[in-house]
Amino acid sequence: RKLGILISGRGSNMAALVEAARPSDCPFEVALVASDNPEAAGLAWAAEQGIATFAQSPKGMPKAEYEARIDAALRSAGVELIALAGYMRLLSPGFVGRWAGRILNIHPSLLPKYKGLDTHARAIVAEDTVAGCSVHLVTEELDAGAVLGQAKVPVLTGDTAEALAARVLVEEHRLYPRVLAEFARTMTDPSLARVRSLALVL
Ligand code: GRF
Repeated sequence: RKLGILISGRGSNMAALVEAARPSDCPFEVALVASDNPEAAGLAWAAEQGIATFAQSPKGMPKAEYEARIDAALRSAGVELIALAGYMRLLSPGFVGRWAGRILNIHPSLLPKYKGLDTHARAIVAEDTVAGCSVHLVTEELDAGAVLGQAKVPVLTGDTAEALAARVLVEEHRLYPRVLAEFARTMTDPSLARVRSLALVL
């Protein structure tokens, strides 16, 4: 399955997906890395790996126009499945509708806890003992689609948001490729569709 990855910055999750896609038996291949930020560090890295990249700043244009350009780049690269990886914009209902059920995101909390930003600081303030990350389907609502997979880490005494973020990030890099591979496989093999629908209601 051809995967398009949307990023806004560092792109470490994108890099984890690129590395995971190298073996020939991986059920997804990275066809395009696109960004709303032409300066995103991840874009340069992806280009160095020989992956097609696309940068489109949304500045000075209506959101619909910006998204139409991203959409066109994804479609001309043959993308069938989209992974958001540190993509810092909310996609419009129109865009989500056009890719319904085919956009995944990784979020650094155990959803439904801590949607939105500053997840690690919020977990520390709440004195949570467990934190983690979630891969979920993207819907119109921020961080609210069905959760497809989660990984947990302990919150340690004296943790700063940065320390916790680093511990969670290690798990993000493991979780995202695993869930995407499973998801891409169920898209290919209809006999696995049941497994997928079960996962979707988790
Ligand atoms: C990750 O923590 C991801 O969960 C969140 O934003 C961060 C992006 O990091 N959505 P990177 O760009 O993948 O390195």
